[in-house]
Amino acid sequence: MPEQPETAWSIDTQLVHAGRPPAEPGNPVNYPIELSSTYHAGGEVEYARDGTLGMRSLEEAMGPLEGGEAIAFASGMAAANAIMDLLPQGAIVVAAEFTYTGVALRLRELDERGAISLRRVDIADTEAVIAALQGADAVWVESPTNPMMEIADIPAISEAAHAVGAVVVCDNTFATPLGQRPLQMGADVVLHSATKAIGGHSDCLLGIVVTADPDRADALRVRRTLLGAAPGALECYLVLRGLRTLALRRARSQASAQVIAERLAAHPAVARVRYPGLPGDPGRERAARLMTGPGFMMAIEIAGDAAAAQTVAESVRLWVHATSLGGVESLIERRRRWPAENPRVPEALLRLSVGIEDPEDLWTDLAGALARV
Ligand SMILES: Cc1ncc(COP(=O)(O)O)c(C=O)c1O
Repeated sequence: MPEQPETAWSIDTQLVHAGRPPAEPGNPVNYPIELSSTYHAGGEVEYARDGTLGMRSLEEAMGPLEGGEAIAFASGMAAANAIMDLLPQGAIVVAAEFTYTGVALRLRELDERGAISLRRVDIADTEAVIAALQGADAVWVESPTNPMMEIADIPAISEAAHAVGAVVVCDNTFATPLGQRPLQMGADVVLHSATKAIGGHSDCLLGIVVTADPDRADALRVRRTLLGAAPGALECYLVLRGLRTLALRRARSQASAQVIAERLAAHPAVARVRYPGLPGDPGRERAARLMTGPGFMMAIEIAGDAAAAQTVAESVRLWVHATSLGGVESLIERRRRWPAENPRVPEALLRLSVGIEDPEDLWTDLAGALARV
């Protein structure tokens, strides 16, 4: 079993030491990347789809961060599907209108085939969410939302959901466990695309679900086995390695994001900046109350049309024009370039993921691209 560091240590310290082999003479400091699908019979691990020491080392590190038991999956979507697979037939699901596109599409598919009954809500409008909860089985929260950067009142939604017996699922990908701890606010299940900031290097796909309910954790592990959604050995290794530096990367990228957001807010080519660290942002008060900081993600609306926004995305030289987020490199993209994106996302909206480069270099590059519109 992987060794657990003392929980009295700060989270930043735990990140560095969690999920390592026992500190015994001759043991490696890191779990090796184990390339084996099967194991000699009779041991703790029998078959890789049921869980390996590599998976468990990552899970042992992730669980305490969120305050529950972690289960690793092959991707964020594999993790989301495992959660959806646990919903009862015909479940009424109240979901944020703006969730990650893949999650939105999947929920809509399940709704269309009658597996669930979907109620879409403005997740930032707590009263509207509560009003939609009557008879609900589950609430799917994302906060901040991708890509609109809305902030949900997770404690208020959780309390109201539990009053009607609904399970609260919270996609915590944008905030990371260092930015927000939904289980502590009442959520029942936390979802991460660890492909993003937890892995942090844009080099692999992996998903993580955390829950404090041991029966739900067991059920999710069974889903992983039956859906064939186990992560690979290399992916587990890479994500655990990324996790070690999450605190440093997040502190740097969040500080840079604040500076960049303030400058963007004053830029004539930018009509709106969506970043909860800015005065006047609709999510600012809630983020200050529920999060440790506004994070490294933001969205901007270019003062112009889709073509103008596309020009900005294609004119950067240091920022990477690509989808995804949470890597060491800063990323920018116009979300509506994807036909499946929610049509209510503005055409001229660019999603920005701030990385760990020198913020002055990032600004110089972005200002140069903005000067083209
Ligand atoms: C908020 C959010 N949740 C879930 C996912 C899905 O994760 P993955 O790409 O690892 O399957 C993403 C991917 O972009 C995301 O942004």
